[in-house]
Amino acid sequence: MNDAPRALLAEAEAARDHAYAPYSRFRVGAALLCEGGAVYRGCNVENASYGLTVCAERVAVQTAVAAGERRFRAVAIATSASRPVPPCGACRQVLAEFGVAEVILPGDPPDVRPLSDYLPFGFRPKDLDG
Ligand code: THU
Repeated sequence: MNDAPRALLAEAEAARDHAYAPYSRFRVGAALLCEGGAVYRGCNVENASYGLTVCAERVAVQTAVAAGERRFRAVAIATSASRPVPPCGACRQVLAEFGVAEVILPGDPPDVRPLSDYLPFGFRPKDLDG
Protein backbone atom coordinates (compact mmCIF):
# COMPACT_ATOMS: atom_id res chain seq x y z
CA MET A 1 0.00 0.00 0.00
CA ASN A 2 1.18 3.52 -0.80
CA ASP A 3 1.91 5.46 2.40
CA ALA A 4 2.64 8.74 0.62
CA PRO A 5 -0.82 10.24 1.24
CA ARG A 6 -0.65 9.40 4.95
CA ALA A 7 2.86 10.86 5.21
CA LEU A 8 1.74 14.10 3.58
CA LEU A 9 -1.30 14.25 5.88
CA ALA A 10 1.03 13.91 8.87
CA GLU A 11 2.92 16.96 7.57
CA ALA A 12 -0.38 18.85 7.27
CA GLU A 13 -1.29 17.92 10.85
CA ALA A 14 2.07 19.23 12.04
CA ALA A 15 1.48 22.45 10.11
CA ARG A 16 -1.92 22.80 11.76
CA ASP A 17 -0.16 23.09 15.14
CA HIS A 18 1.01 26.55 14.04
CA ALA A 19 -2.41 27.82 12.92
CA TYR A 20 -3.19 31.34 14.07
CA ALA A 21 -6.97 31.19 14.33
CA PRO A 22 -8.08 33.15 17.42
CA TYR A 23 -11.28 34.36 15.73
CA SER A 24 -12.73 31.30 14.01
CA ARG A 25 -10.97 28.73 16.20
CA PHE A 26 -10.92 26.66 13.00
CA ARG A 27 -7.35 25.43 12.65
CA VAL A 28 -6.01 24.36 9.27
CA GLY A 29 -2.71 22.91 8.11
CA ALA A 30 -1.59 22.21 4.56
CA ALA A 31 1.40 20.34 3.16
CA LEU A 32 2.46 20.78 -0.43
CA LEU A 33 4.54 18.12 -2.16
CA CYS A 34 6.74 19.57 -4.91
CA GLU A 35 7.73 17.82 -8.14
CA GLY A 36 11.27 17.42 -6.78
CA GLY A 37 10.08 15.84 -3.53
CA ALA A 38 10.37 18.79 -1.13
CA VAL A 39 7.42 19.48 1.18
CA TYR A 40 6.29 22.96 2.23
CA ARG A 41 3.85 23.60 5.03
CA GLY A 42 1.26 26.29 5.61
CA CYS A 43 -1.30 27.15 8.27
CA ASN A 44 -4.16 29.61 8.33
CA VAL A 45 -3.18 33.07 9.54
CA GLU A 46 -6.13 35.16 10.70
CA ASN A 47 -6.31 38.88 11.37
CA ALA A 48 -8.41 41.17 13.54
CA SER A 49 -9.39 42.73 10.22
CA TYR A 50 -11.10 39.48 9.24
CA GLY A 51 -10.86 39.86 5.47
CA LEU A 52 -7.07 39.79 5.65
CA THR A 53 -7.08 36.17 6.80
CA VAL A 54 -5.05 33.83 4.60
CA CYS A 55 -5.87 30.14 4.25
CA ALA A 56 -3.37 27.40 5.04
CA GLU A 57 -3.22 26.19 1.43
CA ARG A 58 -2.30 29.60 0.09
CA VAL A 59 0.34 30.11 2.77
CA ALA A 60 1.88 26.79 1.71
CA VAL A 61 1.85 27.77 -1.97
CA GLN A 62 3.31 31.20 -1.29
CA THR A 63 6.03 29.77 0.94
CA ALA A 64 7.00 27.20 -1.68
CA VAL A 65 7.00 29.70 -4.54
CA ALA A 66 9.08 32.13 -2.49
CA ALA A 67 11.60 29.29 -2.07
CA GLY A 68 11.82 28.87 -5.85
CA GLU A 69 9.36 26.02 -6.38
CA ARG A 70 6.94 26.14 -9.29
CA ARG A 71 5.37 22.70 -9.80
CA PHE A 72 3.51 20.65 -7.22
CA ARG A 73 2.29 17.08 -7.14
CA ALA A 74 -0.14 17.09 -4.26
CA VAL A 75 -1.54 19.01 -1.32
CA ALA A 76 -2.75 17.45 1.94
CA ILE A 77 -5.12 19.36 4.19
CA ALA A 78 -5.85 18.75 7.88
CA THR A 79 -8.30 20.86 9.88
CA SER A 80 -9.56 20.88 13.44
CA ALA A 81 -12.92 19.50 12.26
CA SER A 82 -13.75 15.85 12.87
CA ARG A 83 -14.70 15.31 9.22
CA PRO A 84 -12.57 15.87 6.08
CA VAL A 85 -12.85 19.47 4.85
CA PRO A 86 -12.17 20.41 1.21
CA PRO A 87 -10.24 23.54 0.17
CA CYS A 88 -12.17 26.79 -0.34
CA GLY A 89 -12.78 28.13 -3.84
CA ALA A 90 -9.99 30.71 -3.68
CA CYS A 91 -7.47 28.05 -2.69
CA ARG A 92 -8.64 25.74 -5.49
CA GLN A 93 -7.89 28.53 -7.95
CA VAL A 94 -4.43 29.20 -6.48
CA LEU A 95 -3.56 25.48 -6.42
CA ALA A 96 -4.64 25.18 -10.07
CA GLU A 97 -2.30 28.02 -11.08
CA PHE A 98 0.67 25.79 -10.25
CA GLY A 99 -0.70 22.52 -11.56
CA VAL A 100 -1.32 20.74 -8.27
CA ALA A 101 -2.39 17.26 -9.36
CA GLU A 102 -3.99 15.74 -6.27
CA VAL A 103 -5.83 16.86 -3.16
CA ILE A 104 -5.49 14.59 -0.13
CA LEU A 105 -7.95 14.75 2.76
CA PRO A 106 -7.96 12.68 5.97
CA GLY A 107 -9.73 9.33 5.92
CA ASP A 108 -9.13 5.64 6.18
CA PRO A 109 -8.00 5.27 3.49
CA PRO A 110 -7.11 8.92 2.80
CA ASP A 111 -9.35 10.66 0.27
CA VAL A 112 -7.17 11.27 -2.81
CA ARG A 113 -8.79 13.07 -5.75
CA PRO A 114 -7.54 15.10 -8.68
CA LEU A 115 -7.78 18.87 -8.23
CA SER A 116 -9.88 18.88 -11.40
CA ASP A 117 -12.66 17.19 -9.39
CA TYR A 118 -12.74 20.26 -7.15
CA LEU A 119 -12.25 22.83 -9.88
CA PRO A 120 -13.54 21.35 -13.16
CA PHE A 121 -13.94 24.58 -15.12
CA GLY A 122 -11.55 27.04 -13.47
CA PHE A 123 -9.85 30.06 -14.99
CA ARG A 124 -6.39 28.96 -16.18
CA PRO A 125 -3.27 30.87 -17.24
CA LYS A 126 -3.93 29.89 -20.85
CA ASP A 127 -7.27 31.67 -20.70
CA LEU A 128 -5.32 34.93 -20.82
CA ASP A 129 -4.19 34.12 -24.38
CA GLY A 130 -6.11 36.07 -26.99
N1 THU B 1 -9.47 28.16 5.89
C1 THU B 1 -8.34 27.60 5.37
O1 THU B 1 -7.25 27.75 5.94
N2 THU B 1 -8.45 26.90 4.23
C2 THU B 1 -9.60 26.70 3.53
O2 THU B 1 -9.58 26.13 2.45
C3 THU B 1 -10.86 27.16 4.11
C4 THU B 1 -10.79 28.03 5.29
C5 THU B 1 -9.37 28.94 7.13
C6 THU B 1 -9.58 30.43 6.96
C7 THU B 1 -10.04 30.84 8.34
O3 THU B 1 -8.91 31.09 9.13
C8 THU B 1 -10.74 29.60 8.89
O4 THU B 1 -10.35 28.52 8.06
C9 THU B 1 -12.27 29.70 8.87
O5 THU B 1 -12.74 30.06 7.61
